[in-house]
Parts: sequence; structure tokens; C-alpha cells
Amino acid sequence: MKKDTTNQGRRSFLLKTGLAAAGASLMPVPSTASSRPGPKSKNAFEFVFMTDIHIKPEMNAPKGFQMAIDKANEMNPDFVITGGDLVYDVMRGNFEKSDSLFKLYADMAKGFKMPVYNCIGNHDLFGIYEESPEDESHPDYKYGMWERYFGDTYYAFDHKGWHFITLNSLDVTDNKRYKGHFHQEQLKWLRNHLKNVDPKTPIVVTTHIPMLCTFSQLNGKEGTRTVKNAAEVFEIFEGHNLKLVLQGHIHWKEYGFVNDRVHFLTGGSIAGNGWKGRRHNTKEGFVRIKVDGDEFSWDYIDHGWERERLKMGVGSADD
Ligand SMILES: [Fe+2]
Repeated sequence: MKKDTTNQGRRSFLLKTGLAAAGASLMPVPSTASSRPGPKSKNAFEFVFMTDIHIKPEMNAPKGFQMAIDKANEMNPDFVITGGDLVYDVMRGNFEKSDSLFKLYADMAKGFKMPVYNCIGNHDLFGIYEESPEDESHPDYKYGMWERYFGDTYYAFDHKGWHFITLNSLDVTDNKRYKGHFHQEQLKWLRNHLKNVDPKTPIVVTTHIPMLCTFSQLNGKEGTRTVKNAAEVFEIFEGHNLKLVLQGHIHWKEYGFVNDRVHFLTGGSIAGNGWKGRRHNTKEGFVRIKVDGDEFSWDYIDHGWERERLKMGVGSADD
């Protein structure tokens, strides 16, 4: 996937003060983020956001992912965006096993009848853990295996007047753990890229590790649930119409709308709790987004996996 640097524009409005001062409001999760009455514009379109797939041969995971693929094909959106953690997992290395997981994902994803735009997640970082038999000298280390299969880990594309940017929200700490961080080379690219995006163009950003999330407030835990330098990215988007941030990682469903400007949506997961049941009481599923003009609405799609696993006697209908 090539990084797109072909648009034009400049920066102006203030996003920084709004986001820094207000924070996200907790509200019941609506099925519609916004709506606009009247007939659909001719540029209306739909896309799917499917995250935390965690594909592996065990636990009937391929069957569950295939059900999600079939459901998406039935709905026939213009494209699919994934939210990372495509495989489970390659952080502990072992080349053959790790490569077979990526191959399984890549082969199955060919079943989508529309383009798929992938995002990298923590479980997709090859060999980064201390216990891995591989290290930095391996060409597939960290982002390498993902890049070999899918291309750049950050990139952009346009669709019917909207601009989509997928970011790489992962890096590795000195003591060989993953961390939610947008590295500087990428942020340099983003700054340059946005110079060529019209300030009015609605932008959707996809990130695996959330930029905005209430997990820690609700659970009293610190950790790697959000990207540490997310504020730096929001600052870069000042002067642009950042409309929606799509997020993965938490395996829960959360929607927020900040200062009448930025929506954020954490899109549940395909894998739930390691294919054993719901995670945080969020049913396995994915998000469908309907875009019409400058507005969008969304709903969470049950692709039937919970019903199927309950039939097989796996897990329960809550966590
Ligand atoms: Fe995940």
C-alpha cells in the first residue's frame, strides 16, 4: 500500500483547545452517531470496521472469522478497514509458526469481495518479546513481517470525498514490551501529508491502540490502553476536519463525541475473549459505518459467532 500524498490544503481551526480542555463525555452507546434527514446523496457509501481478529488455527477461530467475512460480503460495503491484531500472536517469535499465522490471515482475507485496508496491532509485532528466539537482526522483526504481507504500516487513501488515514500506533520499549506510541518518522510523514489535504475534507483515522478511551477511568488501571503521545497527533490535525477515530485493542465497544467535533469509536472485536466468549461483556462483532455527505451513522453487527460457539458449548452470553 503506497502512502498517498496527492491532496492539497492548509491548516486552520482549533482542535487542540477543545480536546485538551474538555475530555470525552461518558454517554450511553448510541447506534447512531449523527443523522441527517432527507434523501441519500449520490456520494453516500458504507464501509466496515473489523478489529482484533486474532486469527489462529485453534478454538475454531477460522470458522468465526469466515462467518465475519461472509457477513461483510452479504452487506457489500465499499471496503473493509481492519483495526489490528490480525493474528494471535507473533510477539514471542518462532518464524515458522508466526509466518503460518500471517499466511492464514492473508489467505482468508482474500475471501472479502471488496478492498481491505489493514492496520497493525501489538500482537502482529514479530519477535519483540525477550523470550523470542529472534531479535532485531531478523528482517521480519517488529513491523517486518506485517510489512512483507501488507506493505506500509501507515498510509492514506481517499474515498468519495472522505480521506482515510491508517496509523501505526505501536513501538517497542527498551525492556522489550510493546507500547502505544506514534513514532516520529510517521508523525513527520503525517505533518507533510496533511499539507495536501483540504481543511474541509472529512478525515477518518484508524489506530489499533486507542487515542481516546475510558477503560482506565472505569477500571482504575494504568497501562498500555492508550497511545502515550496521542495529543501530539491531535495537535497535528489542528486545522483539519478530523471527523472520526476508529480504534481497536480493548475488545470493547465505546463511542464518544468530543466538543461537537471528533467522534471516537472502539469497535469491539472478532475474537472476543480469546475465542472463548465475550470480552468486557461486548459480543463478538464488527462495526458498519454509513456515510452520507459530511455525516455518518454506525451500528454494531453480530455475525452470529456467539450463537455458534454457544452451540459448541464454548463460553456464555456474558463475561
Ligand atoms: Fe486484540
